[in-house]
Amino acid sequence: MKVLVAGGAGYIGSHCVRQLQKAGHHPIVVDNLAYGHRGAVHEDVPFHKADIGDSETLVEILRREEVEAVMHFAAFCYVGESVEKPLLYYRNNVVATLALLGAMQEAGVKKFIFSSTCATYGIPAKLPITEEFPQIPINPYGNTKLAIEMALQDLAKAGSLSFAAFRYFNAAGASEDGSIGEDHDPETHLIPLAIDAAMGLRPPLQVFGEDYDTPDGTCLRDYVHVDDLSRAHILALDKLDKPGTALCFNLGTGQPFSVKDVIETVSEVLKRPVPWEAAPRRPGDPPALYADSTKAKSELGWKVQYQTLRPIVETAWRWHQMNPEGYR
Ligand SMILES: NC(=O)c1ccc[n+]([C@@H]2O[C@H](COP(=O)([O-])OP(=O)(O)OC[C@H]3O[C@@H](n4cnc5c(N)ncnc54)[C@H](O)[C@@H]3O)[C@@H](O)[C@H]2O)c1
Repeated sequence: MKVLVAGGAGYIGSHCVRQLQKAGHHPIVVDNLAYGHRGAVHEDVPFHKADIGDSETLVEILRREEVEAVMHFAAFCYVGESVEKPLLYYRNNVVATLALLGAMQEAGVKKFIFSSTCATYGIPAKLPITEEFPQIPINPYGNTKLAIEMALQDLAKAGSLSFAAFRYFNAAGASEDGSIGEDHDPETHLIPLAIDAAMGLRPPLQVFGEDYDTPDGTCLRDYVHVDDLSRAHILALDKLDKPGTALCFNLGTGQPFSVKDVIETVSEVLKRPVPWEAAPRRPGDPPALYADSTKAKSELGWKVQYQTLRPIVETAWRWHQMNPEGYR
């Protein structure tokens, strides 16, 4: 299938491009490189530097490349920034996404796969989180993702498209061969920050809160390997033939790991300590978030290949060793 990957030069999108190629599909990347890296996309893959909000250009690309499905990773993803600059987030994550959906309608493309997030659940009343939990985001970033999920439900009901929305938990790791990986600026994700702290490339890691009601007092999260996430997208492509199909799935391993588990695992893999210091809790950080992904397993046949933290950290470390400067 010819698949347009919006945000394909970013962290998760670039891994999905690889998995699409591996599965025999033909990815075409659109990215404005606001955060992505041209070097994350192999030169064999058609690449268009464009903004998804530019409908005219998108219609032209969708038609010329004879695109059959769109995978949409292009968004701004910093929760803190979304609180400070909500308009920026609504413009990029909602308005530009609606423009992309409009371009698809004009070009007659009807299959859509959307990167949503566990942040749409806000602070869950119990755990693990299933897809039936109420979606009550607690920040503008989560609101923008929920807004698009709602628009997709309405479009599917109208028969205009079929979609799968994936609510990712914490994406982590890098490609098995270490050639592509995570290179965010600024970096906010725990594993790359812990690796950098261990390497002396950053000040000691800040641990936000040690007094949560969790086994070691630090927050619990569900780390899911970026290639496992990508494989779910490929599986979903086969489920979107019927117009009006509306699918929502959690993607996580279901295994919670604490901040201190991550620190310990990174120091084991790197064979050096991760310097860290205690910092106050961050407002709005739920004590624990982990997924029940039974639905993705039973309905898509999704299998998690990286079930625990250590192999995930090993891939992140390999990427770091092979690319100490990231894509620079
Ligand atoms: N990383 C995670 O743990 C995580 C968790 C839940 C959900 N998500 C979602 O997954 C998606 C991908 O996340 P990521 O970590 O790969 O982010 P990323 O920033 O690495 O990738 C996003 C890409 O989209 C591009 N982009 C942004 N706005 C654009 C626009 N208007 N037009 C064209 N390109 C644009 C950026 O340049 C970047 O290459 C996002 O939608 C994010 O909200 C990520």
